[in-house]
Amino acid sequence: MKKINVRTKSKSYDVLIGQNVFSQLIKDLNKTDFKVLVVCDSNVYKLHKNRIDDLLNSKKNFYVYAFNSTERNKNLRNTGLIYKYLMKNNFSRKDSIIALGGGIVGDVAGFVAATYMRGIPFYQVPTTLLSVVDSSVGGKTGVNFLEVKNLIGAFYQPEKVYADLNFLETLPLKEIISGAGEIFKYAFLADEENYLLIRNRLAKLLSEKKFDENLFARCIKLKSSVVENDEKEISGLRKVLNLGHTFAHAFESTMKFQIKHGEAVIAGIFASLIVSKKLGLVSESELKKYLSDFQFLPINKKLFSIDLNTVIKFMKSDKKTSEGKIKLVLISKPGNVLIDVSVKEQLVKKSLEELFERFRGV
Ligand SMILES: NC(=O)c1ccc[n+]([C@@H]2O[C@H](COP(=O)([O-])OP(=O)(O)OC[C@H]3O[C@@H](n4cnc5c(N)ncnc54)[C@H](O)[C@@H]3O)[C@@H](O)[C@H]2O)c1
Repeated sequence: MKKINVRTKSKSYDVLIGQNVFSQLIKDLNKTDFKVLVVCDSNVYKLHKNRIDDLLNSKKNFYVYAFNSTERNKNLRNTGLIYKYLMKNNFSRKDSIIALGGGIVGDVAGFVAATYMRGIPFYQVPTTLLSVVDSSVGGKTGVNFLEVKNLIGAFYQPEKVYADLNFLETLPLKEIISGAGEIFKYAFLADEENYLLIRNRLAKLLSEKKFDENLFARCIKLKSSVVENDEKEISGLRKVLNLGHTFAHAFESTMKFQIKHGEAVIAGIFASLIVSKKLGLVSESELKKYLSDFQFLPINKKLFSIDLNTVIKFMKSDKKTSEGKIKLVLISKPGNVLIDVSVKEQLVKKSLEELFERFRGV
């Protein structure tokens, strides 16, 4: 088992990664008499019923609220239903929430925890690859609003994260690929050695489907070192974690969420590399090397017929843009990520055309 301590200004907490760390959560919570609402992905509940029931039966004050975790359900209507459930069962500020599921459950349950009675404790139990390596750590919570991703939200750190690798065993390949999208970005967030290590371990994960706690611990350490220095995206440092995401959010919105978030991130990072080349930040040979190093990451073919004008429209309305200009996170080399680079709309469009051209034949 690996343990990583995350120290932010608002909270210091541990992330446990390993087989069966879920049983540790049961032990930890049984030390208190407070009520606990398990906000659970309904798929995960079906697939891991025995283990989750062990938790629910371990004390009388456990409640469960399960929902179908889709982007459509990541909304204020759903949070309203959870507030009602908490009210009906007289949850007070001392009681807590467990988010048991992927990034959608974590973002929704975390936002409810951040706002119910101005904040109650919450625990993350991530069950997808993406949520283990990314969304369960760092305190971003929120919901979509009017087709815009994560428009309503709060920064709110969990009390503790229990990343139990046994849950990942039931993940379909599509979800593993989606999680790989968020791991991809970490390859560029530190030096060349880190790039190679992440590239090789990620390739192995996809070919052998073995979940590697050392790889996950590295990703979480990289994320926590960024979050510790810029918890609320004030200095701007945290924006490095958005590599590929301005594209990704626009792909998701244009496709009305008919693409997985991590799949959109894979295409978004490739697109950012192409923009970086067009601006002279990386050479054609460096670009070729990056594309070939990560060619094992597939591009969702539905993207090839996407309407580029709509993508650009969404990119201009993204939270990370200002005054109508498209601001992107770009790369000059691993460990040298540039934030807030203003890029002309036309160059972004040409880069997307080049992206689809390069990948259409692959
Ligand atoms: N808060 C953050 O910092 C942050 C960072 C990245 C992404 N996100 C958000 O995370 C969301 C995506 O998260 P996700 O990719 O985990 O998606 P998700 O929560 O929708 O889960 C994906 C699918 O996997 C299923 N699933 C979950 N666990 C499973 C398991 N163990 N076995 C089998 N199936 C399982 C779910 O039912 C769902 O169908 C997006 O909404 C994105 O905006 C948030």
